[in-house]
Amino acid sequence: MTARFITFEGIDGSGKSTQSKRLAAVLKAQGTDVILTREPGGSPGAEEIRRLLVEGDPDRWSPETEILLFTAARRDHLEKTILPALEAGKTVICDRFADSTRVYQGTARGDLRQTVDQLHDLMIAREPDLTFIIDMDPEIALARGLARASGEDRFEDLGLAFQKDLRAGFQTLAAQAPERCHLIDGNHGPDAVAEQVRTVLNAAL
Ligand code: TYD
Repeated sequence: MTARFITFEGIDGSGKSTQSKRLAAVLKAQGTDVILTREPGGSPGAEEIRRLLVEGDPDRWSPETEILLFTAARRDHLEKTILPALEAGKTVICDRFADSTRVYQGTARGDLRQTVDQLHDLMIAREPDLTFIIDMDPEIALARGLARASGEDRFEDLGLAFQKDLRAGFQTLAAQAPERCHLIDGNHGPDAVAEQVRTVLNAAL
């Protein structure tokens, strides 16, 4: 397998973190050199920015300020972690990437998709090779997410209507980029979801 950049996306509590870990473990067991990383975060500087974003009051930042912070974190992550790994021939599995900004800040938090796209083109200009979007019922996902009570619930705290908008946003994105984005039915147990991910990956390789 050649170096690949694979991302997982979905609403809060969709199980994408579990699936990212499982895929990384499967590929490692097959002898692939894999790094598993996440956003916001994934490099020391970006992890510092993460704390500003995921903790505290939902109204702490305006949508515009959020876009700048997420993009700053992503730029550092790209420079320090993702690009060096890809250049070294590794496979990078990332839990969230630019699609999250397109949907959370570009659509659900306000009508700011153009701003998100311009900043992406200017500062990131990199797409994953393959993206899994874990699609599921927001009520079940939200209950899971809040049950974790991680102290990182700033976005979960925006409520069910917000999660429904997010789901619709991810579905639209998948329809717009069908060659890269694959919708995975997340309304099943982790084994069944992992099976769907593997089927899509095998077909894509
Ligand atoms: P994450 O750590 O993936 O949380 P979870 O595991 O609960 O899904 O992401 C933290 C929060 O940041 C999450 O609510 C989604 C949000 N987010 C954005 O709003 N925009 C972005 O660009 C990214 C990467 C995340």
